[in-house]
Amino acid sequence: MYTLNEVKNFCLYCKKCRLHKTRTKLVFGEGNGNADIMFVGEGPGFYEDKSGRPFVGAAGKLLTKMLNAININREEIYITNIVKCRPPNNRNPLEDESKACLEYLRWQVKIIKPKIIVCLGAVSARNIIDKDFTISKNRGKWIKKGDFFVIATYHPAALLRDESRKRAAWDDLKSIRSKAKELNIF
Ligand code: URA
Ligand code: SF4
Repeated sequence: MYTLNEVKNFCLYCKKCRLHKTRTKLVFGEGNGNADIMFVGEGPGFYEDKSGRPFVGAAGKLLTKMLNAININREEIYITNIVKCRPPNNRNPLEDESKACLEYLRWQVKIIKPKIIVCLGAVSARNIIDKDFTISKNRGKWIKKGDFFVIATYHPAALLRDESRKRAAWDDLKSIRSKAKELNIF
């Protein structure tokens, strides 16, 4: 068994995929190392790559607001991404990159032991839930997987592009809040 810091160190020196060559800072993840809820995005964007922190750009600001709307502070939960290094020009991570990096997410889950995992967007859901996952069809449904419940919802960047998705996203947030209550998290 490793600690989160040890796994972060593996990532700092990781050359398992091409993304290490173009990133500025590693974005390992942040928050409560004992969190009951974990949010998993896709990969670092421009501001994340500059700061080394997940979800700090426009999508991140919206994520923080969405969390606050269901009375969750960022510090209580753990936030990370499928890939820990920024894909050039914010392209989607390629399949081999996600696969290579998934080992680190597995360690994060093993160490933190969340009761709930929330996938933000299709890249996250395809890597964690099912390779054929589509957000429009399958979002908002709870799945028991090993020791945790997992659900996928819109990526906040997708909500910024299309406001009409906000209603469904709000339903998902309320569902996350109820599941957390049901599991005695709050
Ligand atoms: N989008 C993501 O998927 N992750 C981040 O950390 C920021 C934007
Ligand atoms: Fe390693 Fe992940 Fe970075 Fe690829 S994205 S180099 S697998 S830490």
